[in-house]
Amino acid sequence: MCAKVTLSVIKADLGSIAGHHMPHPDQLAVATKILAEAKQKGLIIDFYVTHVGDDIQLIITHNKGPDHPDIHGLAWDAFKAATKVARELKLYAAGQDLLSEAFSGNVKGLGPGVAELEMEEREAEPVVTFHADKTEPGAFNLPLFRIFADPFNTAGLVIDPKMHDGFVFEVYDVFEGRSVLLKSPEEMYDILALIGTPGRYIVRRVYRKSDNLLAAVVSVERLNLIAGKYVGKDDPVAIVRAQHGLPAVGEILEAFSFPHLVAGWMRGSHNGPLMPVPMRYARVTRFDGPPRVIALGWNISNGRLIGPADLFDDVAFDETRRLAQNIAEYMRRHGPFMPHRLGPEEMEYTTLPAVLEKLKDRFVKSEEVKVVKKHSDMLSGS
Ligand code: 13P
Ligand code: 13P
Ligand code: MG
Ligand code: MG
Repeated sequence: MCAKVTLSVIKADLGSIAGHHMPHPDQLAVATKILAEAKQKGLIIDFYVTHVGDDIQLIITHNKGPDHPDIHGLAWDAFKAATKVARELKLYAAGQDLLSEAFSGNVKGLGPGVAELEMEEREAEPVVTFHADKTEPGAFNLPLFRIFADPFNTAGLVIDPKMHDGFVFEVYDVFEGRSVLLKSPEEMYDILALIGTPGRYIVRRVYRKSDNLLAAVVSVERLNLIAGKYVGKDDPVAIVRAQHGLPAVGEILEAFSFPHLVAGWMRGSHNGPLMPVPMRYARVTRFDGPPRVIALGWNISNGRLIGPADLFDDVAFDETRRLAQNIAEYMRRHGPFMPHRLGPEEMEYTTLPAVLEKLKDRFVKSEEVKVVKKHSDMLSGS
C-alpha cells in the first residue's frame, strides 16, 4: 500500500486533423513517449493517453499531490511536444490551448484543463473519468447534481446509510474566481439557483458530508475569460469516485442518459445536446459536434490504473444517442437564432463586439418609434 495517490487528468487541444475533429496519432504517440519516460524514472506511477474530439487527455497517477510543479511540468512538456508535431504536420489550430509560451510551475491559467483528486485508496477504488469535447465545464452541473443530490437518479441516497446524509457541493463562480460550499439536501434549492447558470456557476468539487471524503472534481478553466477573446471552448474533464458509500458506477452513468443541452458545439457558440459515446465515436463531425462525452472506468490499485472500461460503449445508451440526434436536428433548424446560438453575454467573446462597433454610427434614434406612437394615439382617439 503506497502513500496517498493523486489522479490528475490534464487536457489540452493542441491541434487537429481537418478542423476541430481529432488529434493526429503522432501527437498521441509523442505525449505517450514523454509520460512513459516519466513513469520509467519513477516520477509518476502510471498513465494513459487518449483523446475526445480534438482534445488530448493525459490521465496520470502519482504520489505528489494536486498542483505539483513536476506533474504540471510533465503535462506541459507533453503538450509542447504534441504542439510541435502539430506544427510540423501543419495541423489545424496547432497549440490552440497553450495561451502562454512560458511555464511557471502550474498549467492552470495557461490554457489546459485540470482535474486532480488526491485519495487514500480504499479496499477497491473504482473511479470514472469523464472527458467532453465542444462544451464547457458547466456541462457537468446537471449530471453531477443528479448523481449526488437526486434520489430519482441515485437510489443509494435513500438506500445506502453511508450516503444518506448527503453531499456538499463546492460551487465556483468563474467570473469572480470564488466558491461557496452548499449542503445537499438542505440547501438543494440554493444549489440549483446557482448551477442552473452553468456558464458562470460550476460544480467544482463534491464531498461526502459524513466524512468530507472528496468524491468528484471538475476542471473549471474558462479559456475565453483567460484570453479575453474566443479561442476555443473549455472542453472539460471530471473525476468521480464510485461505490462503497458513494454512488454506484451505474448511478453515475445514469445521469448521462438524458442528453441535456449544453453550450459549445460549432465555434463554441451554440447550444446542443451532450451525447454520451464510446471512445471510437469520440470524433466530432456534424456542425463540429454535437458535443460529446466519454466515460472511462478505472480501478486504482496502489496507484496503478487498471482499465479503462469504455463505459458508454453499451446499447443501453443507444436511445440516449438517438434522442440526442433528434435534438441536434431540431436545434440546427434554428440556424443563427437563439436559443440554438448562445445569448449575447457569451457572444461577447466572438464577433459581436466588432459588429456592434462597426454599426455604432448607423444606429439612429428610430423615427418609427414616433410613428408607432402617433398611430397608437390615433387608435386610442387622443
Ligand atoms: P456498494 O456496496 O459498492 O455501494 O454496491 C452497491 C451496488 O453496486 C449496487 O448496484
Ligand atoms: P474546440 O474548442 O474543440 O477547439 O472547438 C472550437 C470550435 O470552434 C469548434 O467549431
Ligand atoms: Mg480545437
Ligand atoms: Mg475541443
